[in-house]
Amino acid sequence: MLNGVKKDFPVFEHNPGLVYLDSGATSQKPRQVIEAIKDYYERHNANIHRGIYSLAARSTRLYNESKEKVRRFINARSTKEIVFTKNATEGLNLVMYSLGRGIGEGDEIVITISEHHANLVPWQQLAKWKGATLKVIDVDDEGHLDLKDAKEKITPRTRIVALNHVSNVTGVIHPVEEVIGMAKKVGAITVVDACQSVPHIPVDVQAMGADFIAFSSHKMLGPTGIGVLWGREELLGEMEPFLFGGDMIETVNLDESTWNDLPMKFEAGTPPIAQAAGLSAAIDYLDSLGMERVYEHEKTIVEYTLDKLLSMDHLTLYGPHTPQDRIAIFTFNVKGLHAHDVAQFLDYKGIATRSGHHCAQPLLRRLGAKDTSTVRASLYIYNDLSDADALIEALKEVRKYAG
Ligand SMILES: Cc1ncc(COP(=O)(O)O)c(C=O)c1O
Repeated sequence: MLNGVKKDFPVFEHNPGLVYLDSGATSQKPRQVIEAIKDYYERHNANIHRGIYSLAARSTRLYNESKEKVRRFINARSTKEIVFTKNATEGLNLVMYSLGRGIGEGDEIVITISEHHANLVPWQQLAKWKGATLKVIDVDDEGHLDLKDAKEKITPRTRIVALNHVSNVTGVIHPVEEVIGMAKKVGAITVVDACQSVPHIPVDVQAMGADFIAFSSHKMLGPTGIGVLWGREELLGEMEPFLFGGDMIETVNLDESTWNDLPMKFEAGTPPIAQAAGLSAAIDYLDSLGMERVYEHEKTIVEYTLDKLLSMDHLTLYGPHTPQDRIAIFTFNVKGLHAHDVAQFLDYKGIATRSGHHCAQPLLRRLGAKDTSTVRASLYIYNDLSDADALIEALKEVRKYAG
């Protein structure tokens, strides 16, 4: 277990007794990240790239250092492969719009039923616009990818395979490398939604073998307003820009323009500079803990919590009933009660959980949550076993209202 982490997070000082179990939606921020953003605005604030004065040069250097930290964190080859976006959703849309230019009738796009809407709706819409076919890989009843189905769905007509690394509903760590291998065999491009993996488990993009991954800073201790798209340099180099405007151009004439080098070609307008400083500090923080230890911490929480949840027969737990290959996300319903009522009861006990469809309606239907409403408790580095106990005790108490 990681110890002594909570004290670095001011939100717990300001909200005594808070049991925060909604890190799947967004993580809390350590003091170091909050300070880095404050420090940026107090000491280094200037727009980047354009100014030749020292302050602008310093601001540009901080922004570039942040890219280098991201590069190292995910083991990318070059910072040319690191594009800062607004969030993961924008990164996924960037790839969809840019690669989508080359998609035509008869082409196939393959996703999984386990996708967050951010990695589902863009591909669904692309297929509609281009007359392409959207194919969906199934999961089993506990949310594990059906690799046999993947083998059948990925064919020589497949142009793009888009899938999540870790489900934001079940916490399952999918064997993305195997699916990427299948996609490579037919020459398809792979896009991995790494929103729930990069904050929780070590991720090495070269070992994974994908063509693109997208994730959000705000789920990994960093600020909102900045996401990362990593893409293979040769692919990003060939792709057309997504957004047009300042900073992404080389020369502009009235009838024609040429594009800036990577990664600026994909960063139109003023980028999230202060947020990049915050993301740098978040990566430093995670590095200081070590991502292997972060994952171990979550495994300990899963092993402690899962059996206790499974032993409550007034609960329906969605996702795996086994502790292997998952992060600390637990999605459930209390029989006879609506998820919002359960979340409200938990809030009354000081426990923050999320209720609703978690932006994954098709997955919830597939797992049998018919009205697509469930409660999700998602834990992270600052949660310990006492937080798991608080949830378990409150869920025992809610039994008296269960149907
Ligand atoms: C698996 C997954 N993908 C994508 C997203 C979208 O992230 P953002 O809203 O930061 O773009 C989320 C956020 O909940 C997520 O959990």
